Amino acid sequence: MTDTAEVAYRLQDERPEPDDFYREVIAGLDRRPRQIPPKFFYDEAGSRLFERICKQPEYYPTRVETGILDQYANEIAGLTGKDSCLIEPGSGSCMKVRLLLDALRPSRYIPMDISCSHLHEAAGRVAEDFPWLDVHAVCADITRSVDLDCIPAQARRIVFYPGSSIGNYEPRKAVEFLCRLADISGPGGGLLIGVDLEKETRILDEAYNDANGITAEFNLNLLHRINRELDGDIDIDTFRHHAFYNETEGRVEMHLVSECSQTLRIDGHRYEFAAGESIHTENSYKYTAAGFTALAECAGFTAEALWTDDDELFSLHFLRAA
Ligand SMILES: C[S@@+](CC[C@H](N)C(=O)[O-])C[C@H]1O[C@@H](n2cnc3c(N)ncnc32)[C@H](O)[C@@H]1O
Repeated sequence: MTDTAEVAYRLQDERPEPDDFYREVIAGLDRRPRQIPPKFFYDEAGSRLFERICKQPEYYPTRVETGILDQYANEIAGLTGKDSCLIEPGSGSCMKVRLLLDALRPSRYIPMDISCSHLHEAAGRVAEDFPWLDVHAVCADITRSVDLDCIPAQARRIVFYPGSSIGNYEPRKAVEFLCRLADISGPGGGLLIGVDLEKETRILDEAYNDANGITAEFNLNLLHRINRELDGDIDIDTFRHHAFYNETEGRVEMHLVSECSQTLRIDGHRYEFAAGESIHTENSYKYTAAGFTALAECAGFTAEALWTDDDELFSLHFLRAA
């Protein structure tokens, strides 16, 4: 718990056990194709690298979604109402919510993230910059059960889930996760969610392969993290970042590809890699606005509003929980 005299700010620490990372890496490298969930990108270094990705000229999602939030903040507030409890899973740097706070005037803001020190800093800065706001940060893995007693019993709940993080789930799992968000928002509550749209392959390929190599660094940081935290002996230079739009699946895939045949050792486990063999680290599904609305309806939401940019690169949906 962190409390200062000047700002209303608390940190609820339910961070995952270090064992979670160990178990999922060991299991994921044994699987075929080899796969490690994207939530493990976000240690301290990974969170900082993600912030740098957001500033790359090719990475349009942050820039475009920010523009939509900025332009429609008052209209959004008309739908959410004021004095709600605003809950943001995967809040990262908490930059986007800043565009909404003055219009929405929530009675409590609950940012939630797996990356604890990053959350602590970001939420603390929000509390400082918006001294009227009650901030209760929750460090937790949002795919697991989380104690949400911090949501006041009578509050109207608005869940804010920007960044197209919903695209990390394959569509069936996305519906399951949306059901979870519907549970959190409760009957009559709302979900404001950012969803990346289908578009020309070139724009997608460039966005996930920025010329400065920051997305590559972000992807490769997962191997550094394995070396740092799990006693790995991976020679990072023998892997390369590979990201591309898979048209058949309708998703951008990120992989770490071994450039040679080699054996990796992680805490006594051995993994034989052929040259060209990859670890699949992220999917980022792209939707049409109608396709995503249909998915949200499967989770019991009703679509109330949809905003996009002029080029229809990105969409922001306001959905009401049944
Ligand atoms: C793609 S970033 C988006 C950040 C921010 N919402 C935005 O729109 O810019 C994903 C964020 O979700 C967090 N995250 C990823 N998986 C998570 C999980 N399972 N539980 C909690 N936070 C998670 C990461 O630490 C990161 O801050």
